[in-house]
Amino acid sequence: SIVVIAGPPAAGKGTQCEKIKEKYGFVHISTGDILRENVKQGTELGLKAKGFMDSGALVPSELIVDLVKDRLTKDDIKEKGCLLDGFPRAPDQAQAMVDANLEVQKFLVIKVPDETLVERGCGRRLDPETGEIYHLKFRPPPEEVVERLVHRSDDQEESIRVRLQTYHDQIDGITPYFKEVLYEVDGTGKPNEVFDLIQEDLDKL
Ligand code: AP5
Ligand code: ZN
Repeated sequence: SIVVIAGPPAAGKGTQCEKIKEKYGFVHISTGDILRENVKQGTELGLKAKGFMDSGALVPSELIVDLVKDRLTKDDIKEKGCLLDGFPRAPDQAQAMVDANLEVQKFLVIKVPDETLVERGCGRRLDPETGEIYHLKFRPPPEEVVERLVHRSDDQEESIRVRLQTYHDQIDGITPYFKEVLYEVDGTGKPNEVFDLIQEDLDKL
């Protein structure tokens, strides 16, 4: 099965996916993580994607759609199910899923107001060794990892505002594809409170 975790930038998709994965055993596929890994490795995809990502725009769908389709038809996903984080992110990507018969069991949207998102994004720090997601104020990192933490290049206020605008421009063209399986979750509480709400929806699977 495929569960989509959607929501604006810095809403907590990655944070919640870690919790969901642990409890339900799904495979977590984040197109943002895949793209950032490609940028880091300097692959052809990474070189093409970097400028779009840093500015806060979407990368062109043709760079990402086939990659996601290939990944979703692998055996581990048929066995364990998949948490799809950051895809589909434009109406043509939703259409590509329909065309490929990739059926979505649930489409969860984590809802958080824009001003909260700017604060969550600006304070985010990532641990490149463990993949752990921290926040300087809301989830302070332990002393021993502080030195190696990275600040995403698109986590500047300006890029975050562009990402927010991109999100608002696209989302209303995406949700109609999933209206039968659409669940909205209030993402303003603490991570564990948000997770409790998500569990209520996932347990109905
Ligand atoms: P992507 O990586 O998907 O970025 P995003 O959608 O902007 O989302 P984020 O990863 O920033 O936030 P999140 O919701 O995962 O929040 P997190 O849990 O980290 O995409 C990046 C770029 O790649 C795009 O801009 C685009 O260019 C490209 N791209 C990706 N997919 C694409 C596609 N399909 N098509 C085209 N282009 C694509 O949490 C954020 C912070 O808040 C953390 O510090 C965390 O600790 C904190 N936090 C989390 N939850 C809470 C809480 N409840 N309370 C307080 N703080 C919290
Ligand atoms: Zn993320």
